[in-house]
Amino acid sequence: MSTIIRNGFVVNTEGVMKCDLLIEDGIISAMGGRLSDETANVIDAAGKYVLPGPVDVHTHMDLQTGAFRAVDDFYQGTIAAACGGTTTIVDHIAFGPKGCKLQHQLDVYHELADSNSVLDFGFHGVLQHVNKDILVEMDGLIKDGIPSFKAYMTYDSRLSDDELLQVLKTVKKAGGLLAVHAENHHVIEYLRKSFVEDGKTEAIYHALSRPSHTEAEAVGRLIHLSAMAGYPNLYLVHISTAESLKEIRKAKENGARNVFVETCIQYLLLVEEKYLLPEGEGLKYVMSPPLRKQEDIDALWEGIQEGLVQVVATDHCPFYFEDKVRNGKDDFTKCPNGGPGVEERVRVLFTEGVMKKRISVQRFVEIASCNPAKLMGIYPKKGTIQPGTDADLILVDPEKIGLIKAESLHGNAGYSLYEGFEYQGEIDMVMQRGEILVKDGIFLGKRGEGRFIKRGLPSL
Ligand code: URP
Ligand code: ZN
Repeated sequence: MSTIIRNGFVVNTEGVMKCDLLIEDGIISAMGGRLSDETANVIDAAGKYVLPGPVDVHTHMDLQTGAFRAVDDFYQGTIAAACGGTTTIVDHIAFGPKGCKLQHQLDVYHELADSNSVLDFGFHGVLQHVNKDILVEMDGLIKDGIPSFKAYMTYDSRLSDDELLQVLKTVKKAGGLLAVHAENHHVIEYLRKSFVEDGKTEAIYHALSRPSHTEAEAVGRLIHLSAMAGYPNLYLVHISTAESLKEIRKAKENGARNVFVETCIQYLLLVEEKYLLPEGEGLKYVMSPPLRKQEDIDALWEGIQEGLVQVVATDHCPFYFEDKVRNGKDDFTKCPNGGPGVEERVRVLFTEGVMKKRISVQRFVEIASCNPAKLMGIYPKKGTIQPGTDADLILVDPEKIGLIKAESLHGNAGYSLYEGFEYQGEIDMVMQRGEILVKDGIFLGKRGEGRFIKRGLPSL
């Protein structure tokens, strides 16, 4: 069955074009004025934006982290993502048993996702130790559909600087991408311990134990390591501070190349005063890095405007509020880290970015769809609307407003970090490979219909 999307404002990074789209066999087969096909199902998009399917390249579905497990599995989490207008995810997978091969965790995640995900999906490999075998395995995986790997500079399974240098060199040779969670582990551990010893255990000390310099220092160090490896593709996940952006800008002015920056919606909107909310509410916002100050928010928006920040993702990693409170109420260091956001990203970013005139709708497409697709090796199949690409798209009505309310969301957390947020720009329809996944807020897809995407090399 073919579909025509009639009269919408089709947005790509190059511009906005009022036209029709013809979709056949899940692929966009033509775009232009007044397309006709008598057998086609016609969707009227007059007055609406037709945007390339947004891609969230930082989710943690079903993540086991220490004693806790993120409460959205690949089924419920991707339903939430779809209802929020995302059509593809690339998931950051959990650490495996000590010493395991890279393939071990990829196999575990295929079990979790293949028969459950309603969206097309990929995995970033996860690095938790480095030796010759791991480097050889990395090289093979980069050539075989897993071009991106995640390394952490904090937590128990962090890599040391010399290990980071080795993986950066491997990525340089093979042409993949290294995604890094950059925070200074030892300083953070020292501050956390000191606060707890002094009885400073409330949620606000989560933020105070991870000051902006702990991120910026790690970012600066990492870019120096990247220089020593000849500047492979380096992707800095969830950058949250003005200080980090200063490091990145300075490094780029001094010749640094292939440094890409992701931030997440929470760092574009929410401030650290949230940690002071009473009755455990502040614990909802315990995530790493923590929420920051208004000046950081302003700097991140400027970074997006100037192109220093290329991607806005979510770091979706939800836990039940009760578990956060039970574990974190007497000691913030015991609170599971992470929060939900995959369903809120598109509406929040469209409102705060496009409707508040901080960015154009083309820039929205760049940071929500196109750049993530390019960096993660799935462009132009995903991330753009052109003849020959997957018909992954959303219809957004910029005239419609709504309120974010946890009770209307589809994830399992049961709360939203954006409760009561008034958005402008409603997602009327979500389409994946030509199939309508969500219409007027109703999910119409099926468990397991998402496909694993064998990805190519980054192309930004
Ligand atoms: O607090 C967060 N971000 N939790 C998820 C795991 C991680 O640090 O990426
Ligand atoms: Zn994360």
